[in-house]
Amino acid sequence: MEGGLQLGGERPGRPLVGGVEAEHAGEQHHDPGAGRAADGLLDPLGAEAGLVLGPLQRVVAPAGVPGGHRAAGSGAGRSSSGKGQGFNATLLGGCRPLAAGTTRDPYPAPPHPNDARARPYDDGVGAAPRVAVIGAGAVGCFFAAQLAAGGRAEVTVCARRPFGDLQVSSELWGTTLRAAPLVQTDPAGLQAPFDAVLLATKAHQTAGAAAWLAAATGPGTTVAVLQNGVEQVGRVRPWVPSSAVVLPAVVYCGVERTGPGRVTHRTHGWFHLPDGEAARAVAGLFPPERELVQPVADWPTTAWRKLCENVTANGVTALTGRRMEVLRDPAVQELLRGLLAEATTVAASEGAVLPPDYADRQIARVAAFPDGVGTSMLYDRLGGLPMEEDAIYGAVVRAGARHGVATPLNQALLTLLAAISATAAGT
Ligand SMILES: NC(=O)c1ccc[n+]([C@@H]2O[C@H](COP(=O)([O-])OP(=O)(O)OC[C@H]3O[C@@H](n4cnc5c(N)ncnc54)[C@H](OP(=O)(O)O)[C@@H]3O)[C@@H](O)[C@H]2O)c1
Repeated sequence: MEGGLQLGGERPGRPLVGGVEAEHAGEQHHDPGAGRAADGLLDPLGAEAGLVLGPLQRVVAPAGVPGGHRAAGSGAGRSSSGKGQGFNATLLGGCRPLAAGTTRDPYPAPPHPNDARARPYDDGVGAAPRVAVIGAGAVGCFFAAQLAAGGRAEVTVCARRPFGDLQVSSELWGTTLRAAPLVQTDPAGLQAPFDAVLLATKAHQTAGAAAWLAAATGPGTTVAVLQNGVEQVGRVRPWVPSSAVVLPAVVYCGVERTGPGRVTHRTHGWFHLPDGEAARAVAGLFPPERELVQPVADWPTTAWRKLCENVTANGVTALTGRRMEVLRDPAVQELLRGLLAEATTVAASEGAVLPPDYADRQIARVAAFPDGVGTSMLYDRLGGLPMEEDAIYGAVVRAGARHGVATPLNQALLTLLAAISATAAGT
């Protein structure tokens, strides 16, 4: 495969401790104006500031597509030769199954009407792969902009409301990236199927995005699920053809949406996929400079490490309505120890390899965050929105039940947070 292939997964230059990266800021966010000076502290990638990703690439809009929108001034798209730029679309369509024991598709699905769908660009001349990004929030806009600006794929953003172009202001990299992908607001207008789909809604919004998933996918589409938790595949599988490849993703990217199509980027900036041909094909869609997609060999460790990070900080900040400073309270730290004892025991049962002192290290890490930093769950609570408690604490409880591991503290947080989310959702 050409261009951008990222192998091995663990980020170069980051120390590994028992297979675990020594430093991850997870998905803790900064408020606008709060704690920004800490970015360099939180992420050594700040040293890369000033590197420009690539030229603005314009993306072609399928003619006459209902619900489609295009930013003013964008019109070019496919190369005049009609050839793809550095990616062979058949790589996505022809993915081989991973070896037994890997996590790709443990949820068999019945046949789906889209299984018989024709591929519009399957004309054998190497047309650019087509990617749909479902969800124009912080994560969706960030990665859609990188994809569109990289010029290796035709990008369609599936959004509930139209917007002009994408603009990613990176405080970490010191860059502003602009891109003008096609924006669709009606699933009926999609020219499906796509070679790849990035699903970037919140976990609990997956079923609500079912019409997009159904409209965008077909035989051999690779769906990367950029959501928190460890159950991404099971969440998405019911809505896509059985022949589609569904890959869970673990996102490390501190981004905040500041307006329609507008994102501020503060920490990290990549997502992991379980290594395999499909993951490498997705990685090849992105510009290679920043290793935006990192396939990893040890998926259970990658997925559960991120889940344990979320378990540590998200629920307590959301329930208390306080930022990371609350995690320095000794009594709160005892609660965190209990939560992590349960979560890491479940993680080990699921095959994750975390160091013996993981909980202490994790608690010390979150306690070192600047006061103003919050979590996505806190921000959802402050915004009166449903939270991702089921994808985080629910996942620990369900896996614990499968393995006979008691998880009363995670259950308690799940129950309390779910009650708040139900109020927010009006149910
Ligand atoms: N933000 C981060 O820094 C970060 C970091 C790591 C992991 N994550 C994880 O990444 C995932 C996405 O997070 P996010 O921060 O990007 O969330 P977000 O900003 O809330 O974005 C979610 C987007 O999905 C859209 N959406 C929801 N239902 C939809 C539907 N039926 N059709 C079309 N669009 C729909 C929303 O549309 P509206 O705009 O219309 O509401 C919103 O734009 C979450 O699981 C999160 O935990 C986030």
